[in-house]
Formats: sequence, structure tokens, C-alpha cells
Amino acid sequence: MLLFSVISCNDKKEKVTKKEIGLITKQAMVVSARVEASKIGTAILKKGGNAFDAMFATEMALAVAYPFAGNLGGGGFMVYRKNDGEIGALDYREKAPLAATRDMYLDDDGNIIKGKSTIGAMGIGIPGTVAGVFEAHRKFGSLRVQEILEPVIALAKRGVVVTAKQEKRLNNYRPLFDKVNKDSITFTHKWKENDTIKYPALAETLIQIQKNGKDEFYKGEIAKTLVKFIQDNGGIMTLEDLEKYEAKWRTPITFNYDGLRIISMSPPSSGGVCLAQIMNAIEPFELDKFGHNSTKAIQVITEAERRAYADRSHFLGDPDFVTIPQKELISKSYSNKRMSDFSFDKATSSADVSYGNVEIIESDETTHYSIIDQFGNAVSVTTTLNGAYGSKLYSSELGFFFNNEMDDFSSKPGEPNMFGLIGAKANEIAPEKRMLSSMTPTIVEKDGKLFMVVGTPGGSTIITSVLQTILNVHEFKMNMQAAVNAPRFHHQWLPDVVKMEPNSFDKETITELTSLGYTIDETTSRIIGKVSAILVLPNGTLEGGADKRGDDTADGF
Ligand code: GLY
Repeated sequence: MLLFSVISCNDKKEKVTKKEIGLITKQAMVVSARVEASKIGTAILKKGGNAFDAMFATEMALAVAYPFAGNLGGGGFMVYRKNDGEIGALDYREKAPLAATRDMYLDDDGNIIKGKSTIGAMGIGIPGTVAGVFEAHRKFGSLRVQEILEPVIALAKRGVVVTAKQEKRLNNYRPLFDKVNKDSITFTHKWKENDTIKYPALAETLIQIQKNGKDEFYKGEIAKTLVKFIQDNGGIMTLEDLEKYEAKWRTPITFNYDGLRIISMSPPSSGGVCLAQIMNAIEPFELDKFGHNSTKAIQVITEAERRAYADRSHFLGDPDFVTIPQKELISKSYSNKRMSDFSFDKATSSADVSYGNVEIIESDETTHYSIIDQFGNAVSVTTTLNGAYGSKLYSSELGFFFNNEMDDFSSKPGEPNMFGLIGAKANEIAPEKRMLSSMTPTIVEKDGKLFMVVGTPGGSTIITSVLQTILNVHEFKMNMQAAVNAPRFHHQWLPDVVKMEPNSFDKETITELTSLGYTIDETTSRIIGKVSAILVLPNGTLEGGADKRGDDTADGF
């Protein structure tokens, strides 16, 4: 259904923009990157399961239906809010292997060895996903794991239909699959749209996990097969690494913004801290009066982003290894100080903004799902292999790809690696350390009640995409689907450019921003983020926001 109304105005003119409405359900909803995963999550809820049961099922279903980012060989973060208002966060981020060293990606001359942290077995961090879903289930699950995995195993056996977008992605990455893997893998085949890919090996892996639980993956036969495979391919992971892995409960970042309470992911993700810094910095400005994607709104948000991202990699890393001045960074007074030199008359130059001698360029092939159950519990989960199909190393015996999350560390503190990533000490490599992330699974409360569940893939653009989605609803009065669909922009301090989704922004606005000293880049980011979100409407029904940029789908009842 499409409605039309005024949703945007700036000082000069009013714009009429369409309000697109997403799926509306009465009780429960799952929004994820694939219809199969959303449907399986919903089916678990229909059986009487809660949001944590649905999390387990959806995460595993994404590993089957969305191998691009869904995973058993990666990691992620979950933020939850129970129906009684209790909140929490689970960190199942990958860890560096015990044999990892600070300089492991450098040659004898101290130069980065191209591709060593991104392609193949040396890029793999200790996977956390299986530990994560089991830990969430141990604490809050209500259905038996056996029952939860049943539809996922059936999906892996039955197979998944290739979408047009998936065909394109597989075509893009096939040469790398061939390069990295010794033997041909399932994805070596030239799959076309509407073909069905079956995953018998993954089904068998899931059956073993169904029978023997988490230990099968971290200590059992799967662990042995996994370690042998990685070592045969030149990696350094050991059984001890797997045995020692555990998911960790963290205290989420919480802060208030204009009557909303935002609950987001804490370190080792930078997501919540950065989101808090940006939202604190923009709060004093009347964004709603400036108008959606107006020159002034883009200026304020860009300048807040510039300053937050400049801080990000200087201060942030694994909190078990580095001391983070978190309280100070997310305080209103700190952000106000940071914005004190901002002027509407002229862009600040990133060269004049300290901290960070860090340019952040992360891969954007992650995935997010949002769940609200019929009991009012909410979970927000972002999970990743890092790059598209992770390290591209695929175990045909186990049926899944391995991450290349080690590349999220600073391979060489203070200097850019091949991807332009310049790291700082806080995020340098150490055995058992978790690499810094940008993942920002977020839950928003309004008037003390659940209001929104939101998150996205997008590397460093994750934080700014979540930000804009919240602002689109709260400041610019959009529906959930319209807020997700609306064009997005992004600034991350360095490079000193405002990235915009091409052909989506007002030409006059771009001209104005350019004359104020902003460099606009519409070329390098075809899309920014792929948001999966749920909004609780005033009458208590749920509206899904499933991003049109992907194959994302909302399902529920
Ligand atoms: N690998 C992307 C992230 O963690 O932000």
C-alpha cells in the first residue's frame, strides 16, 4: 500500500514524498535478509517459542539460505529487551587464535602482506556463532534445540532457491572461490536465478549439533574436522582455540535522545558508542525543522559523524584488553564540546579534527535480523563472516564458509593496510582478543515501552544507517518501511567525503553542500546499509521495514 503525504520540508521548500508501509502484524515479527529465514523464525514463534528461540532458528536458517553473510563460521552480536524491560547484550564475536601475533600480517620489512588477512585460512578468527545461539538459548530459550533446528535441517536438505541478486553475487565471487579452495565447491557451479541449491553437508553438520549440542562444534568431531581442514589450508587455529571460545554477556550502551532511550551494542563493537556520540551531538539541533536530507540536516549529521569516527579507532577495541573511556565518550557534555567549533557556514576539515589517525574502511557484507515475539520480547542481531562469503574458504565436508574477521584488527597500527584501514593500538592483534566491529544491533524505547528494533550490515556505514533509520521515524515521521527505504548518506571522518546513494539526493542540496566545502561522492557507494527493522505502532501492532536494497523480507502473525 502506498500513501502520500508531506514528510519533508526545509527552509526553502516542502517536498512531497511517498510513505511506504511495510508488513503489519498483530503479535510477532521476524525481519531478515531472506524469506526462508524470516519464515523459519516465525514458525518457531508460532510453535510457542520466544524471541530467543526464534533467534537460534533465524541465525541458523541464514547460515543455510544466505551463505554470503549468514554463518556457522563467523560471529555476531545480540541486543535484547525482554517484555519486563530487562535489557542485555551478547557478544559472540570471533577471537584471534592463540598463535596470533601482532605482526602476523607483515613481511620481514614490516609491510602488509597483501590478502593474508582477507583471503584463505590465515584470515580466520575463532568462530563464535554456534556458542552465541546456544548461550542465548541456555539463558532464555523455551523450546528444545532439537525442535528449533528441525526446520533448518529440512531447509538445508530441501534446498534454497537462488534469487537474481544471489546469482549476481555468486558470479562476482566465483573466481575467488576457485582461487582459495583446493577442490571445487558447491559454489563453483554456475548457479542461475530460480535454481535450487541443496546443502546436504550442512544438514549433516546441523544434525550433529542437534544431537550433541554446542560441544560438537567446539570439542567434538566437527571441531576436529574443522581444525584439520583449516590447518591443511595453512591456518593456525587449534582445538584448544575452539575449546576455549565462549560467548560473553555484555552491558549494552544506553543513552537518551529527545525522549527516546537507545539500547545498542557495547565494545568490542564500536556501534553503540559511536551511535551515542553522534546522537548526543545532533540532539540540540532541530532536525525536524531542517527537513529530511536537507542541507542543514546533512551538515549537522555529517559533522557529528566526522567527530565520532575520528574518535572511534583511537579509543575503541576489545574491552577485555584495552581501557576505554566509555563514560566520557558517550556523555552529552563531551559531544557538545566536540561540536563547539561547528558552523553552518563552512564544512569542518577532517584534517583539523583530532583524534583519530584512522581511516576506517570495512567490508559491508554482514547481515542483520530483528525479532519481536508474541510475548513482547525483542532481539536485535547482527552477524557476519566479515567479507562476502568470509575468507572464501569453504569446507565441503562441513558445508560452510569461514570468516576473515582477522582483517577487522589493525594489521599495522598507525599505517593503512591494503584496504585503507589504518589502525590504532587499541585494536592491534593479540592472542584471544576480539577485533573491533561496527555492528550496531539496536533497540529503541519510547515512553518506557518497546518502540523499534533495528540494525543493518554495511561495515563502517552500519552506524550511520541505523542512525538515519531512527531519525527518519522519530524526527521525520516516516513509517518503518519508508524510513528503511529512504536514501542514505555517510561520513566517517576519513576519507573526508560525504558518500551518498547515487541519484537519490536533491541536486540543489548537493550544490549547496559543495559550495559549503563538502566533497560529495555518489559513485563509490551503490547502496549504504540494508536495514531490517520493526516498529511498534501506537495501537500495538508491528510494522516491518525490510530493505528493498536486498532480498530482505518481513514475516509474522
Ligand atoms: N566485519 C564487520 C564488522 O564487524 O563491523
